[in-house]
Amino acid sequence: MTSPAPGVGFRFAGVGAHLPDTIVTNDDLSKNMDTTHEWIFDRTGIGQRHVGGTTSELATAACEKAMQRAGVGPEDIDQLLLATTSPDFICPGTAPQVAHNLGLDCGALDIQAACSGWVYGLVHANGLLLQGMDRILVAGAEALDQITDYTDRGTGILFGNGAGAAVVERDPTGASELLGFDLGAAGEFVHILYAEHGGLLQMDGKEVFRQAVTAINRSATNALERAGLTVADIDLVLPHQANIRIVEAAWKKLGFTMEQTAMRLHETGNTSAASIPLVLDQALDQGRIKEGSIVMFLGFGAGMTWATTIHRWSGDVR
Ligand code: COA
Repeated sequence: MTSPAPGVGFRFAGVGAHLPDTIVTNDDLSKNMDTTHEWIFDRTGIGQRHVGGTTSELATAACEKAMQRAGVGPEDIDQLLLATTSPDFICPGTAPQVAHNLGLDCGALDIQAACSGWVYGLVHANGLLLQGMDRILVAGAEALDQITDYTDRGTGILFGNGAGAAVVERDPTGASELLGFDLGAAGEFVHILYAEHGGLLQMDGKEVFRQAVTAINRSATNALERAGLTVADIDLVLPHQANIRIVEAAWKKLGFTMEQTAMRLHETGNTSAASIPLVLDQALDQGRIKEGSIVMFLGFGAGMTWATTIHRWSGDVR
């Protein structure tokens, strides 16, 4: 049931990202909060975060870059999936606004799966390709400064704004493919990370840490098994960028190395649904993903939700 149906391929045709200009460093935060750069950096790996902009503005900028790199226009996109946990409005969704900004003439849908949302989007995009669509725009965008409590040193140090997007399309050659995936949710943990209507993010940091490590281990193991692969087969893992110590703790059990891992956390903080496409964009700039690379995306977050996909990469998106 949770192995991808074979047949249409799955190719990343273009990837783009956008960060707003304003940077808030750890030292900036320490002026108004009882914290220090050393504490934040040692406990999380975060050095700074970007703030400003709305989710639709940030998403539009990232999508424009992804479409430009894919060499496609608005008429070529069959569906927009926008993962966000900080929508412009509670109602309507933010995707219709982004589709309008981009001049798309297709369906546009928000995905609310917190930090796992963009990876959920990839799996759903694969389903739409199997249904006969040619090309899907999958974006993750967040304006988390609008729901972050900057008087709470437990959460106010973690989050940042940003956006990333990918144009994904059929690949009849079969060179690029979704090899395996795992999606999950555990609603009994709603209360450990949430924001009420009109409220700010509340978190039990220690419990989130514990559950995140458990979710990562389970999801990565399931996806590898379904793809018929092992940890050693993965060329690059792009985990959700929440806390470097969460990744290190999970890797101890799973056996991944930091050399196999792409991290951008120090410069972005936790950008929730945007974090994985943001680190993907950087990994591509750095030439860390090549023809034939086996790439794993690994999302986890509030819900709890988790999502892992494993891809065989083909094609130049730069
Ligand atoms: N600066 C300085 N001191 C801080 C601090 C801060 N920003 N935040 C907490 N402290 C203090 C605490 O008051 C406590 O002091 P005490 O020992 O005198 O009581 C001490 O540091 C340890 O606090 P604790 O809450 O146990 O820290 P921690 O090691 O659990 O780290 C987090 C806190 C938030 C960094 C950590 O729990 C975490 O990252 N959790 C996961 C959060 C996450 O990733 N959420 C998103 C998931 S998608």
